Amino acid sequence: MSNETSVIFPDDFIWGAATAAYQIEGSRTVDGGGECLWDEFARQGGTLNCDSGEIAADHYNRYPEDHALASNLGLQSFRMSISWPRISPDGSAVLNKAGFDHYDRVLDSLAENNLTPMITLYHWDLPLALQHKGGWLNRDTAYRFADYAAAVTQHFAGRVPFWITTNEPWSCAFLGYARGLHAPGVRDYNAAGIVAHNLNLAHGLAVPAIRASDGEASVGVAHCLQVIEPFSDHPKDVEAAQTVSGEANGLFLEPTLQGSYPQHMFPYLPCLEDPAIVREGDLECISAPIDFLGLNYYVHEVVRFDRTIPVTGACRMAPLGPLTTIGSGLRPDGLEKILLMPLRDYGCRLPVYVTEVGYLFNDYVNPNGRVNDCARIKYYNEAFRAAARSMEKGVDLRGIYVWTLLDDFEWDSGYSSRYGIVFVEYGSQKRIPKDSAYWLREVIGRNGLT
Ligand code: FCB
Repeated sequence: MSNETSVIFPDDFIWGAATAAYQIEGSRTVDGGGECLWDEFARQGGTLNCDSGEIAADHYNRYPEDHALASNLGLQSFRMSISWPRISPDGSAVLNKAGFDHYDRVLDSLAENNLTPMITLYHWDLPLALQHKGGWLNRDTAYRFADYAAAVTQHFAGRVPFWITTNEPWSCAFLGYARGLHAPGVRDYNAAGIVAHNLNLAHGLAVPAIRASDGEASVGVAHCLQVIEPFSDHPKDVEAAQTVSGEANGLFLEPTLQGSYPQHMFPYLPCLEDPAIVREGDLECISAPIDFLGLNYYVHEVVRFDRTIPVTGACRMAPLGPLTTIGSGLRPDGLEKILLMPLRDYGCRLPVYVTEVGYLFNDYVNPNGRVNDCARIKYYNEAFRAAARSMEKGVDLRGIYVWTLLDDFEWDSGYSSRYGIVFVEYGSQKRIPKDSAYWLREVIGRNGLT
């Protein structure tokens, strides 16, 4: 499939772009929609400059134009999420018809533009009312999610070939509840473990609910796997790296694929051994068979033992080599490693989609009116080659979704991080395809790289 210079992907390979409702839609509460925990977190100063998704890229109103643009760029599939608080504004069983109507029109528009929908049911916008009842620390939220998943998949049955239950439960749990960077900004490691479990449970409960509503669709989950290397071969560094990898990878892959939690994490996360948290039957539920694995790739880090760091003693650092503007490592080659992880560690032969890959760069419109993001092109070029290598080593990779179509609200960093292949001039909402978008169109056109 690949030699040193050219790579050709299989004929039925899918090229897409991934997005998330809260990050692009705006118009949060129009048509009866409700607020989510990020609206409150932003008001409380949890995001850069209190930025929120209030307006974002105005995709709620501009989706026809955005779908046409995606299609003109050669994309074949569009990964989006449904906003839970548009469907269930107060998190209850009372559902908002206008929310369903909106997404019916969105699906019509995707079809008109020949874009296959891949839909995530939970991309972090928990209805604020549920957050006020304890959010993901409250086990009941998992059951509310399964109800919402059943209602949504019943309504849209037959129109969506790919359903993703939850996006990156690691980020919700550990960025939201251990590091306090994401909503709701808690710093309590064991609490993050409880949230991780409840999110895993939410996924497990949703799988049969989705199958019952929409028997034809493929059901999966999107995990953000991380390449974690020890700083040295000192046993303390090795143990710290294993802990971080257990937190980021094992805690999610192992229950999904094998029905257990990694035992080496129990000393750090006592909740995993608490029968009130991990109840009888939970792990069987979580390991319900799925049809595909979605993998998101961003993190490649080196871990060193540091006694001053609470609980894990694990200090995460950027790897040697080029860095991004925010000081993280620029390691597109790591995509091969995370794609191989489920196969290597669990013998998993499920079809895999790269449901997100991309990076933030210092993009700007230059005096010629272009966004010359050659660093992003280089990144994607190397990442796609890494993906192709994983296929040569046995990974059943079916498609790649770039993160993301449009510049968007990037959670704690607000509008300061630009990941899109299309530049959004927020004040005017003008869309300007970056050079990477034109490059990607060529890659998709020849289904490969030269
Ligand atoms: C991932 C999220 C996505 C986006 C990218 C940059 O962790 O799934 O919403 O913010 O990071």
